Amino acid sequence: MVFSSEAPDDTVHKVSVMKKRREAMKVCGFFFLLSMFSPFLDANPGIKVKITQKGLDYGIQCGVDLLQQRLKEEIFEDMSGQETYGFSGVDYTVSKIQVNSVEFPNTSVSLIPGIGINLLINDARATVNANWKVRSWLFRSSGKLTVFISGVFLTAIVTASQDNAGHTVLLLESCQGNVGGIDIELDQEAGWMYKYFVNFLEKPTCISLTTNMCPYIGFEIERINAELKQRQVRAQIDSFARVDYSLVNSLSISKASINLDIKGTVYPVGNDTEPPFKPKPFIIPEKNNSMIHIGISEYFLQSASLVYYASGAFDVSIAKELSSYFRLTTKAFGSSIPKVARRYATPYPVILNLKPIAAPVIGLHNDSFVLEAAGSMEVLAVLPNSTTQSMFTLNITAITRASLTIFEQKLIPSLCLDSFHLSLAHSNVGFFKVSLLKNFFSYILRNGVIPAANAKLKEGLRLLETDSMMLVEPVVTVHQAYLLISTDLAYNVEEDQGESEEFFTIDA
Ligand SMILES: *[C@@H]1O[C@H](CO)[C@@H](O)[C@H](O)[C@H]1NC(C)=O
Ligand SMILES: *[C@@H]1O[C@H](CO)[C@@H](O)[C@H](O)[C@H]1NC(C)=O
Ligand SMILES: *[C@@H]1O[C@H](CO)[C@@H](O)[C@H](O)[C@H]1NC(C)=O
Ligand SMILES: *[C@@H]1O[C@H](CO)[C@@H](O)[C@H](O)[C@H]1NC(C)=O
Ligand SMILES: *[C@@H]1O[C@H](CO)[C@@H](O)[C@H](O)[C@H]1NC(C)=O
Ligand SMILES: *[C@@H]1O[C@H](CO)[C@@H](O)[C@H](O)[C@H]1NC(C)=O
Repeated sequence: MVFSSEAPDDTVHKVSVMKKRREAMKVCGFFFLLSMFSPFLDANPGIKVKITQKGLDYGIQCGVDLLQQRLKEEIFEDMSGQETYGFSGVDYTVSKIQVNSVEFPNTSVSLIPGIGINLLINDARATVNANWKVRSWLFRSSGKLTVFISGVFLTAIVTASQDNAGHTVLLLESCQGNVGGIDIELDQEAGWMYKYFVNFLEKPTCISLTTNMCPYIGFEIERINAELKQRQVRAQIDSFARVDYSLVNSLSISKASINLDIKGTVYPVGNDTEPPFKPKPFIIPEKNNSMIHIGISEYFLQSASLVYYASGAFDVSIAKELSSYFRLTTKAFGSSIPKVARRYATPYPVILNLKPIAAPVIGLHNDSFVLEAAGSMEVLAVLPNSTTQSMFTLNITAITRASLTIFEQKLIPSLCLDSFHLSLAHSNVGFFKVSLLKNFFSYILRNGVIPAANAKLKEGLRLLETDSMMLVEPVVTVHQAYLLISTDLAYNVEEDQGESEEFFTIDA
């Protein structure tokens, strides 16, 4: 029995099966660790990923489910050959070979610190159905047969390294497989034929299975390698920004986890200039209650902040909404600024023009996420002929605290104003004490600006590239210089089936 698939004469079913496999492969490959280029060896990472034993256990379960499904769908080549019986040659064919059931009751995956991943399959069983046919000049006969395979054992050690181009490459370091027993039953009593046929089929089937197991695993690993090689190390977030997901260090395997150090730098689209700051080292504690821990550094967030600031994405023009919402007029300033009262005897409508003047600065500390934003607020009067007249411009530095939630697979920050500072940058209405406007701007910030920013932030940061994987019970916590997302994962079958079919031509 040879584990190779026949070129399919195609149907929609086959196509969707292939699509599903590819997606599942991607997902399971995720556990075997994504990534490739590492031009920045030994740099501090911007993102760390820790996959725990719990994650590996889920990964192996996912892999086993996939293998089961794949073996059942596999189209095997017919076996045929010739045996001598007495003086004559007998031609035999075994066709329509199909795996009817497969069970892996005892599989495990464990880590060998500093070396690799040990995969262990114990006592696997399968039942295979097929048609048989024998023919010689004396006789011909045919029927169905069932093969019971039991006691399948396999142990494999997979290591990870990097090739010259810096791609992560998985290697089947060692592999050993063994089949405990094979039992073939024919559906009809074929008398002498029965014994004869079973005898000459059992041994080659057993040998074929045993010799093909490890190459099959090797073939799967090559598939994952091919997938890893093709994977984009830079992923577009939106029209402004891209993230570099390349590994900065070889992945490290400890007793309890697999650890990935990812560059985690956000760049503007079409510009590879490194940000003017470097990541600080941080360590994710060893905890085994979630499948995966993702540490996102201050550096990652700060590089994102810089990109969005430079791209103008923060220039939310809230002027119109703010002004019409608050129905402001020059009267609001008359009592604090005498010249305003004098110049605008009849109250004119006022608009507020807020612009960021620096990238927001992000500080992650023990249990607190602080975002400091600096902006300039120009206050203008709208004259009856619709021209605007700038009255004054304030610089505002606002210190906000962000709370974080994960909702619908997205990380969503929500800001709350902590304190702010005002200074007069420019005035056409003479000097005045800005402290007199403090209450006014406190009201505007809390009820206008911050809610508007939060509405924008609701779009959130998507945490997974793929829809076929879901975060389960994610928890986000803030630590010194990084935030930590601890979560379980689940393969999302429904999403997968609903997806478009654009990828899978690569599969064959
Ligand atoms: C699984 O296999 C291991 C040996 O490889 C054995 O010690 C263990 O008892 C087996 N577990 C079950 C549930 O059969
Ligand atoms: C890329 O970004 C850097 C820093 O933000 C900037 O100085 C440089 O001019 C940009 N280059 C291009 C080609 O836009
Ligand atoms: C998790 O770690 C604790 C203590 O470090 C240990 O007792 C427990 O068995 C571990 N659980 C798993 C699933 O590895
Ligand atoms: C952070 O919080 C923990 C526990 O809440 C405390 O033990 C630790 O000293 C704090 N570290 C800093 C730098 O504040
Ligand atoms: C609008 O009115 C102001 C003051 O009355 C005047 O100075 C300005 O020139 C006018 N602008 C236009 C475009 O008419
Ligand atoms: C206001 O901000 C601008 C731009 O950052 C800066 O040049 C100016 O010195 C600031 N003025 C005051 C009074 O803080």
